Amino acid sequence: MSNNTTISTGRTAPEAASLSLFPSLKNRSVFVTGGGSGIGAAIVTAFTQQGARVAFIDVASQASETLAQQLADAGHARPWWRSCDVRDLAALQAAITEAAGAIGDFSVLVNNVASDDRHSLESVTPAYYDERMAINERPAFFAIQSVVPGMRRLGAGAIINLGSTGWQGKGAGYPCYAIAKSSVNGLTRGLARTLGQDRIRINTVSPGWVMTERQIQLWLDAAGEQELQRNQCLPDKLMPHDIARMVLFLASDDAAMCTAQEFKVDAGWV
Ligand SMILES: NC(=O)c1ccc[n+]([C@@H]2O[C@H](COP(=O)([O-])OP(=O)(O)OC[C@H]3O[C@@H](n4cnc5c(N)ncnc54)[C@H](O)[C@@H]3O)[C@@H](O)[C@H]2O)c1
Repeated sequence: MSNNTTISTGRTAPEAASLSLFPSLKNRSVFVTGGGSGIGAAIVTAFTQQGARVAFIDVASQASETLAQQLADAGHARPWWRSCDVRDLAALQAAITEAAGAIGDFSVLVNNVASDDRHSLESVTPAYYDERMAINERPAFFAIQSVVPGMRRLGAGAIINLGSTGWQGKGAGYPCYAIAKSSVNGLTRGLARTLGQDRIRINTVSPGWVMTERQIQLWLDAAGEQELQRNQCLPDKLMPHDIARMVLFLASDDAAMCTAQEFKVDAGWV
């Protein structure tokens, strides 16, 4: 993601200087899944601009390297990144271990990776169903399993799981994605009490329709524009940095007593 690229939405990512600064995030160690492009790249960028130490994984190697280099060129600490397919849980957990060795136990985990490929009820085979869950559901649980011992050593932590308002608005065309995304609230609620004993907070951030380059290229047509204007309460298009800003807040000590909740950033769609 280019920090200042104007896409056809008319909205630009803010300059680092205009972002709210959260002093508690400086030097914090942060791990982001799927951080190479889209909303994940905005999250990586936003934490880097806070002076946090950031690590991320993604399958998109070229986009990941470009992002890391752009941030380094802008004078920020270069994020640590590795190519990793989250369908391979052993590889995901190994990457988290390696990254923690490089930049320290993680204070913050952002479970962002997903794939919203379209499919019909009739077309789904058991193998395809399992593959959707392997990207959209399983990685968050096992990433949490990997970072929690480090958070316990640190005495606190913040986990942010990216959910979705799509299934809540009865969005059609991706039932397996909807199933996986609806499980995010259960993950958050189901672990909050256990993790809270160690001051590890866990929350869901549910985006509405966010104008990543992928969304614009694949689905923002005239009908999409009309749907957006009909459903949102606010007229502007959501951008990746709108989601990143909520994630920053929840990761920071300003959200010290927020856990087990879902925070929607959807311009009032659902
Ligand atoms: N964009 C939206 O409108 C929207 C709406 C609701 C929820 N969300 C949620 O926000 C989060 C980010 O969404 P996005 O639109 O930026 O997603 P995206 O589809 O653009 O992809 C996220 C990142 O994950 C990476 N990725 C995909 N499959 C992978 C795999 N198997 N292993 C490792 N990396 C992989 C991609 O390369 C990409 O960098 C997701 O959890 C998504 O469900 C997005």
